[in-house]
Amino acid sequence: MKFFVDTADIDDIKDLASTGLLDGVTTNPSLIAKSGKEFIPLIEEICDIVSGPVSAEVAATDYETMRKEAEVLRKIADNIAVKVPLTPAGLKVCKELSDGGTMVNVTLCFSAAQALLAAKAGATFISPFVGRLDDISQTGLDLIAEIVTIYSQYPNFHTEVLVASVRNPLHITESAKMGADVATCPPNVIRALYNHPLTDKGLAAFVEDWKKTGQSIL
Ligand code: G3P
Repeated sequence: MKFFVDTADIDDIKDLASTGLLDGVTTNPSLIAKSGKEFIPLIEEICDIVSGPVSAEVAATDYETMRKEAEVLRKIADNIAVKVPLTPAGLKVCKELSDGGTMVNVTLCFSAAQALLAAKAGATFISPFVGRLDDISQTGLDLIAEIVTIYSQYPNFHTEVLVASVRNPLHITESAKMGADVATCPPNVIRALYNHPLTDKGLAAFVEDWKKTGQSIL
């Protein structure tokens, strides 16, 4: 499973990239607003840090403007994935970009039917939002299972399931069990993956016992 970080915070991206375990970055207009930075230079900076896909989202909702924005975004770097909403206009832009060889991330997916359309439009990634479904008392992970099952029936679909709106490590491990391709996670959720109290307890005991030996490896 690939790990993307869902943030526009440069310090977090640099820190997580330094682990060697980060495969890409996703951003959205809310994350850009939160960063307080200029959109295009910020995305350029992110693309310099991470060699994997970097999702940059269009702001328009109409086809013509979206297409023009996508043209600007795709030229930022070779590793840009243009992010478009799951709307008729968004999928039309998706099809054109995909046919031209540009990576596309289709976002705001909340149903298997929508995911089917995105695959037919040639999306590189489909982003089902598990956390936001959980928020309205629907089981977000059920949607991941449905999409993975549907996509697996059609070898001509090459769209990767990118689990989005991830809120906790369980969203990641359960999606991995289903065979989802990617999880995009807030930085704190990626860091939480390392944690287990028995790891801390065991390490503390090893450190104390090693001291008793009076030895040094170096
Ligand atoms: O970037 C899309 C998605 O991951 C947003 O997550 O937490 O705002 O629902 P969230």
